[in-house]
Amino acid sequence: MKKIVILISGRGSNMQAIVAAGLPATIAAVISNEPSAAGLATAAAHGIATCVVDHRGYRERTEFDDVLADAIDAFGPDLVILAGFMRILTAPFVDRYAGRLLNIHPSLLPAFPGLHTHRRALEAGVKVHGCSVHFVTPELDHGPIVLQAAVPVLPGDNEDTLAARVLEQEHRIYVQAIRWFCEDRIKITPQGTVALLNQKSATAHVLLSPDFDS
Ligand code: GAR
Repeated sequence: MKKIVILISGRGSNMQAIVAAGLPATIAAVISNEPSAAGLATAAAHGIATCVVDHRGYRERTEFDDVLADAIDAFGPDLVILAGFMRILTAPFVDRYAGRLLNIHPSLLPAFPGLHTHRRALEAGVKVHGCSVHFVTPELDHGPIVLQAAVPVLPGDNEDTLAARVLEQEHRIYVQAIRWFCEDRIKITPQGTVALLNQKSATAHVLLSPDFDS
């Protein structure tokens, strides 16, 4: 059984979806850089160990990352999940977890890396938006994409309605990607893309939200 550590900074709805999914894995701990993160209480209510590494206590990013890595490694995880973890991580940290550090990003990467993805999607007038699960590499919001979900941008959408539509799909694809990882079905090719082992469907890597007209 794989051991997972989840990093959060806030609400923790993705973390909650992962916990509720009943994956063949042990959620060893939930760690937050924000002492006030609401997700910490949710995790504790599920009997999961929680831990805070407050970034404000460290002057340098590398110092924070070292302490964070020690906190993570104390639980000996096979997989580290960023679930709304809003700190930029240094290259040594990312390299330490190469191939076992996943992130969820609220856009169809490589479009809209960084912050305010829903606002930027609305401003750009895109008609399809979504979310991506990817392996983390030192370049922010890059790295091999495991799975994406597409949602339509609807007339009258604002940031909140669009974010809510995307979030529902985040919960689906994050659970699916982690399940694949736990089943040892994810392979990173020499070209740096993700191949899914034992999968007949060519479209397994993309989910469509039910909001599209059929
Ligand atoms: C999610 O929408 C996640 O994709 C986003 O933060 C939110 C966290 O929500 N992450 C990023 O923007 C990372 N760049 P949650 O705490 O309810 O899971």
